[in-house]
Amino acid sequence: MIESSDLRLKKFPLHHGAGQIPALGFGTLIPDPAVTVSATKGALEAGFRHFDCAERYRNEREVGEALQSGHAAGGIAREDLFVTTKLWNTNHRPERVAPAFEASLDRLKLNYLDLYLIHTPFAFQPGDEQDPRDQDGNVVYDPGVTLLDTWRAMESLVDRGRCRAIGLSDVSLSKLLPIYESASIKPAVVQVEAHPYLPETDLLEYCKEKGIVLLAFAPLGHGARPGPLEDPVVLAIAARVGKTPAQVLLAWAVQRGTALLTTPRTAARARENFDISALPPDALEEINQIETRQRFNEVVKTGSPGFIPQGR
Ligand SMILES: NC(=O)c1ccc[n+]([C@@H]2O[C@H](COP(=O)([O-])OP(=O)(O)OC[C@H]3O[C@@H](n4cnc5c(N)ncnc54)[C@H](OP(=O)(O)O)[C@@H]3O)[C@@H](O)[C@H]2O)c1
Repeated sequence: MIESSDLRLKKFPLHHGAGQIPALGFGTLIPDPAVTVSATKGALEAGFRHFDCAERYRNEREVGEALQSGHAAGGIAREDLFVTTKLWNTNHRPERVAPAFEASLDRLKLNYLDLYLIHTPFAFQPGDEQDPRDQDGNVVYDPGVTLLDTWRAMESLVDRGRCRAIGLSDVSLSKLLPIYESASIKPAVVQVEAHPYLPETDLLEYCKEKGIVLLAFAPLGHGARPGPLEDPVVLAIAARVGKTPAQVLLAWAVQRGTALLTTPRTAARARENFDISALPPDALEEINQIETRQRFNEVVKTGSPGFIPQGR
């Protein structure tokens, strides 16, 4: 871990000399195209330099447009940014990985990626339909490909210099272990839901031991109310330290050693979510002691995204 007294600038090193990932990441799971552009610009202006995208969010073009405007207006160079996108479930067959990767890059208007993730460990029927269903409405999975087959194709993207690091998302420790053991290029990042109601402590410990960065999504519990944002412990700490509940949750996430993704949709919230500072040890411990347990996104169980509205 790179120590910085300023949490906003904290970065974690990645395997294989693949650079560093800024702890504070902006997530682009935003259904509306115009809001995607304005929110991404707002995040850039607030200071975010780490952007998390996905083929499945169907807004890579809008994110690319906003990032381009950052280059043009703000003088933000490509190497100042850390950009991730994700391979969708319908592209797990090895021969589909490189084309899916290149299509994402094209939409994002980039010529390399900092990080490419397998979005979920579930392979869906290959094809253009991102959410293939049978007549009964059940997801059509693809039994003809293993996660390790897909991982090998991801490795070849790194070998060919197309992306700097690769990783997994929505995996449990039991799914991560065999990939880690068999991989020639080890996963650099694992992206999962994590917040005080779902601390993923075992996974975090394993990741720290292996030098994998755990990248927490839904650090605010996806904004659900009731949820971590309204937890009495978090509210009390926020009042005590003079920060907002969101800032308390984000600081806790970074201080426990995870990178994070948050999705402020307005410029004001982007500034709020970027403006975090370290909590005192007793506050961190109080949050660690919260006993409520809740998962907000079921994607980890089926591969079907929990937060994406149908029709996009
Ligand atoms: N790998 C996966 O399967 C997966 C799944 C889900 C998400 N992700 C990634 O993780 C990112 C973050 O996830 P998330 O959207 O759940 O993040 P989040 O930041 O925990 O939740 C976003 C929600 O919190 C609210 N919010 C943001 N800042 C706030 C603040 N300062 N005070 C109060 N409420 C605030 C937003 O409300 P408003 O909308 O009203 O602003 C929004 O509803 C996504 O964009 C995506 O990149 C990955």
